[in-house]
Order: sequence, then structure tokens, then C-alpha cells
Amino acid sequence: TGYVTYDPGFMNTSSCASAITYIDGDAGILRYRGYPIDQLAQQSSFLEVSYLLIYGELPTRAQLDAFSEQISIHTLLHEDMRRFFDGFRHDAHPMPVLSSAVSALSTFYQDSLDPFDPQQVEISTIRLLAKAPTIASYAYKRSIGQPYIYPDNTLGYVENFLRMTFGVPSVEHPVDPVVAKALDMLFILHADHEQNCSTSTVRMVGSSHANLYASVSAGIHALSGPLHGGANEAVLEMLAGIQAAGGDVASFVNRVKNKEQGVKLMGFGHRVYKNYDPRAAIVKKAARDVLERMDKPDPLLDLAMELEEIALADDFFVSRKLYPNVDFYTGLIYKAMGFPTKMFTVLFALGRLPGWIAQWREMIEDPSSKINRPRQVYTGATERDFVHIADR
Ligand code: CMC
Repeated sequence: TGYVTYDPGFMNTSSCASAITYIDGDAGILRYRGYPIDQLAQQSSFLEVSYLLIYGELPTRAQLDAFSEQISIHTLLHEDMRRFFDGFRHDAHPMPVLSSAVSALSTFYQDSLDPFDPQQVEISTIRLLAKAPTIASYAYKRSIGQPYIYPDNTLGYVENFLRMTFGVPSVEHPVDPVVAKALDMLFILHADHEQNCSTSTVRMVGSSHANLYASVSAGIHALSGPLHGGANEAVLEMLAGIQAAGGDVASFVNRVKNKEQGVKLMGFGHRVYKNYDPRAAIVKKAARDVLERMDKPDPLLDLAMELEEIALADDFFVSRKLYPNVDFYTGLIYKAMGFPTKMFTVLFALGRLPGWIAQWREMIEDPSSKINRPRQVYTGATERDFVHIADR
């Protein structure tokens, strides 16, 4: 059908119109529904930001209370769902367990799969936000062989998640407010980022009118890759590797510059931000504050700062406009909070969830949206005649 553009990696293609998140990559600006990310990170809460992303406006006190209450009464998993986790290998990585369990929600809640019934969309929104932290903590508990902890709905969203993750039965587990506040803020920073790979995946799957659980499950898989959300895990592995090899940052940077197979400066570079990532600046400061306030000094933080300093003074990185992204310092904070490396991308997923939901809902409500079906440039053989197997 006439003229088709070729744009590998969609470097220059707008796949939709959206009123949710604004990014100016050159100026390092990120806003949710018009509100600057630094104001939200400092003054808001994750559930308030979730409401903002999904419904378009900041909630009144009454709206936020009702929203929080709705979420808190849906945190429990169906008992069959709880047993679902036992089917995985004992050391299963929690990220695919999370996406499998989110996918399985569509079998437990077959009453809420119609994308065009607003009430069904509403209840699946609440269920997803409510159950994702429970699922994430169960995935973790499964991987370390500890019993699952039921949610405690007297606690806030993040506090509840921390207790289910780090608590054990019959033992008081007061949640450290410094940790809860920092994690809430990190969730805000991750809550949406317009048409990134996982969000585009959620929209892609949803564009066929697949249900919200299925679409979000696909988004979680997209996020797991090391070029996307998996980078936070890869950064810590990189830092630990440098430390194990004697802490020679300069020689590691040389390996990156020599483009050694598979050696990248993880946590650096971004498709859109070519000046700095405004989230990275907030996370860097938080990393220092949290590690200090928790009195958990980590030599890897010094290593990361040295790495950043060397890279930012090096023409290889400067000329390619490579700066630290949101993932560069987050892993260090998660580690100080007690999370093992394999949980880092799960935390990113919990933060990104309201963004995926908001973007999916915006697409479903947009009368101009169509099934996503890109074209291609065919580079294969021209027509040729079939050759029987005996004659090949
Ligand atoms: N280390 C070393 N070189 C890099 C890096 C890096 N982290 N990132 C880009 N480059 C080089 C790349 O080799 C290329 O060089 P040349 O022009 O000589 O071929 C140039 O910079 C342009 O890179 P690109 O791969 O064309 O850029 P992209 O927009 O396709 O990729 C990216 C963006 C984020 C995938 C990439 O920068 C990267 O792989 N970074 C490391 C992984 C990472 O930290 N990902 C997290 C992204 S932010 C949060 C999230 O999305 O989850």
C-alpha cells in the first residue's frame, strides 16, 4: 500500500498519541501529566502518582483514601494462586515467576477480561496494583525456601511489600521508615516513561484487545532484558566484577572503549536522554543519603562514582552522549535495603505497573487506536520453484 518507511528500532516513529508522560531528552525533562518528576519524587507518594497516571489528575484526599482502600482489600492471593508458586523450580528467577503469575491472574479472574467494559477494566486495574507486590514477594520467598507471608492491610503499600518480602511468621518485623520512603520514591521514578520497550509491548499486545493481565505479563518479559529493566541487575554484576578483578576502573573503561565483545558500561546511555537522565540525578543523591542513613557503606558506591567520573571525562562517552541512566545507582540502594540482585528488575516492574496500566487504558479508550501491525522491508529470495527433497 504505497509508501512505507523503514525505521529499525523505531528510532523515529511515534506509535501513538499520548497525554500521560512528557520527555524532552535534550533538556533532561520528565513530567507525568505535566508535573515535573523531581516535584513528584519529593512531595508525592507512589499510590498518589499511580492515581495521577491512571486517571489523569492528582486525587483529592477522599479519592486517594478510597483508591488506597480498594487496593488494600485486594492484596490477598487466591489460595490456589499461592500454590501456583510451588510448581516452579526451587531457585527460579523471580522475574519470570512474576510475569507467569500475572498471566495466571487472567485465569483466576475470568470475570474481568473485557477491555471495553469500564467496570471490568477498573477491577482488573485494582487487582493488578494490589496483587503485584504479593506476587513479587512470594516469588522471592519461593526462591529462598521461606514460607509465604500473607499481606497485612493495616500497612501502607510499600510497607506491606517490605514486610511480605523480609518478614517471617511469628516474628515481629517492623519496617524501617527510611527504607519504605526510599523505595516509595524509587517506585515513583520508575512509574512511567512513555513508549519504552515494555510499555510499547503492553500496547502492542493490548492492541489485539488481549486483556490487561495478559498485556502486562508481556510487558514484564520485555522489561526483563538487560538493555531495558534488566540493566539494574547487570550494573551490580558489572561493579562486582570490577571489584573482584582488583577494582581497576580505568582498565574496565578501556575494555568498553575497545568494544570488547559483550562489554558495555551498563547503566549508561539512553535512547531518548542525550544530556542527562533526570531520574539518575535523583537516584544518585538518594543512593548516598540512604546508604549513609542506614549506615551501610558500600565500596561499590565509591566504585560506581569513580566509574561515572572517568566516563564523563572521556571523549568516547561524551561524543556519544552517554550519561548515567536511572539504572546506574538504583541497584546499590536495593542492595543496601537487603534485596538480592535477582529482585532488582522485579522492583522496577512494581514501579512501572501503573504506567503500563495507564498506557493500556489510554489505548483502549482511544477511538483512533488500531491493531499494531508494522510493515517490513522484505530482503529474502525472489520467486523460485519448489525442489523435491530427493533432488536437493
Ligand atoms: N556502553 C558503551 N557504549 C555504549 C553504551 C554503553 N552503555 N550505550 C551506547 N553505546 C554506544 C554504542 O556502542 C554506539 O556506539 P557506535 O556509534 O560507535 O556504534 C553508540 O553508543 C550509540 O548507541 P546505540 O546502541 O545506537 O544507542 P541506542 O539508543 O540504540 O541504545 C541503550 C540505548 C540504552 C540500549 C544503550 O545505551 C545501552 O545498551 N545501554 C546499556 C544498558 C542500559 O543501561 N539500559 C538501561 C536503559 S534506561 C532504563 C531502561 O530502559 O530500563
